Amino acid sequence: MSPDAFSLLCWRRLGPADRDRIFALHLRAIQGMGPDQVRPESLEFFEALLDGAGRIIGACDPDGALVAYGVLQDGPDPGTRPDLWLGWPFDARIQKLAGSSVAAEYRGQRLQRELIRRRVALADPDAYLYATAAPSNPASWRSLLGEGFEIRRLRRVYQDTLRYLLARRAGPRAEPAAPAAGDGALRLEGLSLDEQDRLLSCGWRGRPAPSGCVLVPPEAFE
Ligand SMILES: CC(C)(COP(=O)(O)OP(=O)(O)OC[C@H]1O[C@@H](n2cnc3c(N)ncnc32)[C@H](O)[C@@H]1OP(=O)(O)O)[C@@H](O)C(=O)NCCC(=O)NCCS
Repeated sequence: MSPDAFSLLCWRRLGPADRDRIFALHLRAIQGMGPDQVRPESLEFFEALLDGAGRIIGACDPDGALVAYGVLQDGPDPGTRPDLWLGWPFDARIQKLAGSSVAAEYRGQRLQRELIRRRVALADPDAYLYATAAPSNPASWRSLLGEGFEIRRLRRVYQDTLRYLLARRAGPRAEPAAPAAGDGALRLEGLSLDEQDRLLSCGWRGRPAPSGCVLVPPEAFE
């Protein structure tokens, strides 16, 4: 990809006529990845989103080929209660960043960050936003951390596979204070998943740090 290829991309909201190429890009993007890393979606999933269950934005190259997409879903996944898991008000307006793919030849250009920024901007200004990302898919959760999401829980979802739940409010980004030295923050990568689960359940939150990600204890931000 040439240095200015990013600036030549055309961004737009995708519609029902884009269904098949979104699905084709999804299948190409997740090739070689298991359900423990990324949830394989069905054609019907994208169809429902394009039919009013949410919105899908996409970036096309100058030839019109779809090279990236991101899904903003209205409401949580059916049968799940992120409001209870995350302590949100019972009447919270919930929207989910429900998946994205970047074509292999466009990776490493922070396109996913752009997909996240654009979906946050598209969300209702008072919405509570969440996303899931597998611990084994750091490209996915690091981008979310970089765009103001915090790791809030570790749960088994999607046919019993492990996912971080990341959340933030819509609207202008509330920059979390960088964890200060000595505030008890722990490097995420140095902790077992069981230990991460225990701390997140006690209210610790995952935030970006120069060294990657740190878990910050509740007393550091309450
Ligand atoms: C996850 C995904 C959306 C990231 O997209 P992206 O726009 O390439 O993201 P970034 O540019 O921030 O790159 C993420 C990391 O991947 C690395 N990377 C992966 N493939 C790369 C490639 N072909 N070229 C360069 N870098 C690559 C980058 O170096 C970067 O690592 P770093 O943060 O340590 O620098 C993309 O890899 C993808 O489509 N994966 C398959 C589907 C998926 O996992 N979706 C997310 C969950 S729903």
